[in-house]
Order: sequence, then structure tokens, then C-alpha cells
Amino acid sequence: MNDNNSLVEAFKQTKYKVAGHGTRNIQILKEALKDIDGKQESDVYGKGKIIEDFQEKMAKYLGKEAAVFFPSGTMAQQIALRIWCDKKGLKKVAYHPLCHLEIHEEDGLKELHQIEPILLADKNSLIQLEDVVRMEENIACLLLELPQREIGGQLPEYKTLEDISTYCHEKGIKLHLDGARLFEILPYYEKSAAEICDLFDSVYVSFYKGIGGIAGAILAGNQSFTNESKVWKRRHGGDLISLYPYILSADYFFDQRVEKMKKYYEEAKDLAGLFNQCHGVSTQPSEPVSNMFHVHFAAPKEEMEVILSGIYQETGIGLTSNIKGISKTTCYFELSIGEMYAQTPKEEVKNVIHLLDQKIRGISNI
Ligand SMILES: Cc1ncc(COP(=O)(O)O)c(C=O)c1O
Repeated sequence: MNDNNSLVEAFKQTKYKVAGHGTRNIQILKEALKDIDGKQESDVYGKGKIIEDFQEKMAKYLGKEAAVFFPSGTMAQQIALRIWCDKKGLKKVAYHPLCHLEIHEEDGLKELHQIEPILLADKNSLIQLEDVVRMEENIACLLLELPQREIGGQLPEYKTLEDISTYCHEKGIKLHLDGARLFEILPYYEKSAAEICDLFDSVYVSFYKGIGGIAGAILAGNQSFTNESKVWKRRHGGDLISLYPYILSADYFFDQRVEKMKKYYEEAKDLAGLFNQCHGVSTQPSEPVSNMFHVHFAAPKEEMEVILSGIYQETGIGLTSNIKGISKTTCYFELSIGEMYAQTPKEEVKNVIHLLDQKIRGISNI
């Protein structure tokens, strides 16, 4: 067994897992449906009470005229950018070099829509107003991902968002929000979702990240934008005859967890504080601005996999099953706080941190 397999196996065996909402098993759907009347009619090709009620509820929550439920954010966002490009007659958009569309979607935007992205800002930094102002190319739409996941879930100042929004509005550039984790950042900004979305022409939110549903996304904006997005959803085969398992679970877990984001955020700050006390360990951001952060080790991935497997076996506490190498001497993992953290005994968490500190100190030359 290689080190990664043994880390995965050791993680599976742990009694407590500090991150997330628990194992992604069928129980999630069973729980969401437990009080649903079985005689309720399903949605059919984007129509029907179940889908229309949820779309209306989310449009209101996000402060937008209308909203459309999509099976995935990948589909919803490529469509959003396509609509804004068609409207301007210009197939150019701008976004961060590490945003989801650029690194996780097999170039769907380029291959399916022939849209050219301009990459703004250094990959390790957030997009600032100057990056937008300095851009030489004319673009149809700027996409901002909040929080910027691949750099630990960092967030710009709220004032920066306001300034970028004003600038784009003045220049006739549409502003789209990749709000896969929008609910998770509200406590940091101390704003409502509608206040943040008001800065953007269109917005996408996800229901399987901080919310912990099965899958699914909402795309929201003005009525003509959402009407067009429904046509594209059909073209993309996204109009599944019935989407109710996703919608009902999204709705159920939204109601359960949207108000818990502040608690997850506070817990993320506590846990990051503990990691930062360890030798050779630092978090990005140093103080989290949502429920997520990255844990960086000044040690090789292979060594950390051995250390963590040992700690999991000794304590029964799992931190992650997936370490990513950055260089020969550094690696990291991503951690998002959900329901599981509150169920993990805090003395045990402190013990894990103590062991981590000791074992990393034990590696020569760190
Ligand atoms: C920031 C961000 N945007 C978009 C997506 C795409 O969402 P989906 O998996 O629903 O296609 C993800 C998924 O991880 C994401 O993290």
C-alpha cells in the first residue's frame, strides 16, 4: 500500500472526522425526504411547484428578480458567461487564474462556447480593483469567486467589491459572482446575501458545500437573464425530467444550516489557531474568513501522510484523507468546518495538535 492509500484507509477507520458534515452516503437523501409527502407531484422539465417554489425562495433570499435551479454549478456558470458574452457580442471574460472554470472544468468555456478568458491577478493573490482597471482587453463579464477557494478561501475587503462593482457598471462590464460558498462568507462580511448579490448582475450558489446537500445550484439574476439561462439549460441537457431529489435535499439542508455558518466560521478560527501553534504548520489565511482554510506543512507530502496516518490510528481523530504536494518540501490540505467539528471532543483535538507538533519536530531539518 502506498502512503496515500494508507492515509485514506487510516482516515476511514477514525471515529471522529473534524471536517465537513459527515460521510456522503444515501442517508443524506433519506434524511432530507423523511417528512416529505410521497404523494407530492414531482417537477417535470423545469416546471411544477417543487422547483418553482424553491427558485422563488432563493431569488428572494439572494435579492434577485428570478432564479433557476441547475444540476451543477459548472453548467450554470458557463451558461451565465455565455449569456453575457452574447449580449455584448464579445466572447471575452476575465477571472482569477485558479478559478473553478479555469482549472476544474476541462476548458468547457473555451471548448463549448469559444469564450476567451483573461486571467487577472497573480495566482496567489486576490483580484483587486487595480487589476480590473489595468486590464487592456475589453471584456463582456468579470467573474469573481468568493471566497477564492484555491488560495485557502481568501476574501477581498468589502470596499474592494463595491469599487469593482461600480467600475464594471460604469464600463458596461457585467459582474458575475461564483458564490459556490456565498452562505459561508456572510458572517465575515456581516452582510446579507442580498446585499452582496446587489453588487453583481448574476450569481451562482451551491447546495452541497457548506449546506451539505447532494448536488445542485441556483443561478439568479434579472428575469430576461434567467429566461435565457433556461433555454441554455435545455440545450445542455440540464433539464432533467425531474430534479426533485436535489431540490428537496437542497431546500432541507439550506433551512437546517444556513444560520449555522457563523458557528462554523468561529470554529474554523479556533481550529486554525490550534494548527498555527504547531511547528512547521501554518494556515492560509492565517485567520480564516469563512468555515474553510488550508493547512500548510513545511514537510514533504509523503512524510506528512505517514505522520497523519499514525496520528489517526493513535487518536481515532481524522483531519483529512487528501494531502496535496506543493513542492518537494511542502504540502497542504483543505479543511471546511461543518456539523462534524462540534461532535469531536475538544480535548482529543488538542491532543492531535500536540502530537502533530511533536512528530513534525521529530523530522530532521524542519
Ligand atoms: C468555486 C466553485 N465554483 C464552481 C463549482 C462547480 O460546482 P459543481 O460541482 O456543482 O459543478 C465548484 C465546485 O467545487 C466550486 O468550488
